[in-house]
Amino acid sequence: MHHSVIKGVGHYVPDNIVSNADLEKLMDTTNEWIVERTGIEERCHVKRGSDDTPSTMGTKAARIAIERAGLMPEDIEFIIFATLSPDYYFPGPGVMVQQQLGIKEIGALDVRNQCSGFVYALSVADQFIKTGMYKTVLVIGSELHSGGLDMTTRGRNVSVIFGDGAGAVVIQACNDDRQGILSTHLHSEGKHAEELALIGPNTGRWVPEIIETNNPEDISYYPYMNGNFVFRHAVTRLIEVIVEALSTNGFKPNEIDLLIPHQANLRISQFVQKKLELSDDQVFNNIMKYGNTTAASIPIAMSEAWEQGRISKGDLICLAAFGSGFTWASALLRW
Ligand code: UT7
Repeated sequence: MHHSVIKGVGHYVPDNIVSNADLEKLMDTTNEWIVERTGIEERCHVKRGSDDTPSTMGTKAARIAIERAGLMPEDIEFIIFATLSPDYYFPGPGVMVQQQLGIKEIGALDVRNQCSGFVYALSVADQFIKTGMYKTVLVIGSELHSGGLDMTTRGRNVSVIFGDGAGAVVIQACNDDRQGILSTHLHSEGKHAEELALIGPNTGRWVPEIIETNNPEDISYYPYMNGNFVFRHAVTRLIEVIVEALSTNGFKPNEIDLLIPHQANLRISQFVQKKLELSDDQVFNNIMKYGNTTAASIPIAMSEAWEQGRISKGDLICLAAFGSGFTWASALLRW
């Protein structure tokens, strides 16, 4: 059976940096509150009117990943795009990447698993490679949150957290079973779907009525999060799914070379690190600079970790995510 190896990784973030001090001018918040509760110091937001969209940012990240893999766009056989903030309600952004990369009419799949989206997408790509259906798959996580956030005091518990950006990986088939993705683990618990959700634009609402009402007080068009509830579930599920990945493959936490957790909150990563007794060298965090970029957070972090020399050939890497759904997932891989 074939194994999937990550051949190239890249990321792109918009150049408009929004600091906590910038947010203090828009809403009743403080740098101290944001840093103490989340660890976030700044995030990147797409400027209104810019060419950056989830698909164009995804394409920029993809071009870097493809080049680092030593490939050309036409070598890609299948695209998987994870996002909760697509360019359009439909079609999904995968097809736009196919067009923007200028490649032939290959398949493009969109994944809707929010913060766990990238790990879910990686798992799907891994199955295609294992069955021999494709040899080279592009996996993207990209988000544009800033255009959909309530940047007033009313929305401060959510809007200070999220940032924009994209990350991408190219995975390829390899016959060496000591390398590549060792296993992936996917979970969901739909009973908590509305604890972290954006309810407003949905097909159960009659569009003509929405247009007629046009109610500026309708906050259902902004994301809602029951922060404490989500936090408690996040730490429990992340630890569970990391241990699941390790025990499936006969490893202990101290054998992880680098854990790349979804960047939801620095306090969540620190809690997980402490419980698993991992050293600072074993965990990668960059939420301080980017905030929570949901499906993009793990590939952006992986790309930065690689650029900083924190990932070397042969390293045991664990990816773990938790988010809206609830969904949670992990992947264990040998770089
Ligand atoms: O990526 C998907 C998964 N997401 C997560 O895992 C996120 C999980 N949750 C969290 O990270 C945290 O719950 C938050 C960072 C979202 C919130 O932190 P918290 O410690 O749970 O704060 P809280 O919601 O309990 O709010 C505490 C206080 C409240 O004031 P009162 O009622 O105590 O007077 C809030 O109104 O902090 C207030 N508050 C703020 N104050 C200043 C909420 N947001 C802000 C803000 N600035 N931005």
